[in-house]
Amino acid sequence: MRVLVIGSGAREHALLLALSKDPQVEALTVAPGNAGTGALAQQRDVDITSGPAVVALARDVGADLVVIGPEVPLVLGVADALRAAGIACFGPSKDAARIEGSKAFAKDVMSAAGVRTAVSEIVDNPGHLDAALDRFGPAVGQQAWVVKDDGLAAGKGVVVTADRAVARSHAAGLLDGGHPVLLESFLDGPEVSLFCVVDGATVVPLLPAQDFKRVGDGDAGPNTGGMGAYTPLPWLPDDVLARIVGEIVEPVAAEMVRRGSAFSGLLYAGLAITSTGPAVVEFNCRFGDPETQAVLALLDSPLGQLLYAAATGSLADVGPLQWQDGSAVAVVIAAENYPGRPRLGDVITGAEKAGVLHAGTERRADGAVVSSGGRVLSVVGTGADLAAARAAAYETVGAVRLPGSHFRTDIGLAAAQGRIQL
Ligand code: GLY
Repeated sequence: MRVLVIGSGAREHALLLALSKDPQVEALTVAPGNAGTGALAQQRDVDITSGPAVVALARDVGADLVVIGPEVPLVLGVADALRAAGIACFGPSKDAARIEGSKAFAKDVMSAAGVRTAVSEIVDNPGHLDAALDRFGPAVGQQAWVVKDDGLAAGKGVVVTADRAVARSHAAGLLDGGHPVLLESFLDGPEVSLFCVVDGATVVPLLPAQDFKRVGDGDAGPNTGGMGAYTPLPWLPDDVLARIVGEIVEPVAAEMVRRGSAFSGLLYAGLAITSTGPAVVEFNCRFGDPETQAVLALLDSPLGQLLYAAATGSLADVGPLQWQDGSAVAVVIAAENYPGRPRLGDVITGAEKAGVLHAGTERRADGAVVSSGGRVLSVVGTGADLAAARAAAYETVGAVRLPGSHFRTDIGLAAAQGRIQL
């Protein structure tokens, strides 16, 4: 099988690494890739938002399967263009990708499927903002206001704050930019990311993971695209996991089939485990970053065959997935000033080490690897338990040099110390 992966992050690097271990995958191409992915795949350039351009590239490299990493091409319909051209694609249609692209659509699907989620309200008129803020947050006894961009914002469109002025300013800024605002009730409890390979009504869950969205240790500072992750979750009982699949993901997949928007690809359920059970924070229509880097490090089943089965409607024939024992931890190394405007162009050393996955990197004309984005690298460690996986990841982090960079030192720490309780 010849596979084309679309994207340029550490998630795509992790996908390529896992695909390269599948004996049925004979050739890998990535577009556009980064300075690390060239060791695994032929690198090509493409406008990833253009269906015709991705179709042309897939034909040129003879792809039997195209795996689309980021949400933007999915929301724009690149998977539809591939399917229309007769090319198998792992990734949902434009219609189904609205589960991430439009939070209003996602709420509607969840409501019809009877799935627990935050109470929410869309504000598109600045004149209604203050009254709406009064119906959420500490004003009505909740811990915080949750203010989101009702569209794609790479995780950075969300502000969770107990400070009304901060909530108001974020919402007003979004409205000024022409973006409708979603106000949500705050869901208390530890968060879980559960990735499910889905083909219509068939749902195959991967290992649950936890993501660290705030930039600093102890969840300090602003939200980011994700600063680290670990898997599996020692504090999450199997029966709660079964409830997430049976009471949330399967009903949502079935509802999407019912309304003619069947989902095919990776359905990412972001959840909070509240005192009254799991509730949905958001759905995404693709693999999450950086959870994928940790989750795929433990996957033993052949990834290419799994994704091809989903893409060709035969997921029901895939047996139970096989996983390595133990834990995996991914730590993101970010550029100076991220999640603000990152400093770019710094030389990185140590990035060729095993376990280092590239994201915002590029190769300079003189061969040096330099930073080219906010999240620069994801460093993955595995071990017999979470403490061992953390130790392995942070040992490698210590061997990487990027001037001005920063990373969290507490990825998976609370769980390793048994401090997460339901
Ligand atoms: N881990 C957050 C995201 O991928 O959206």
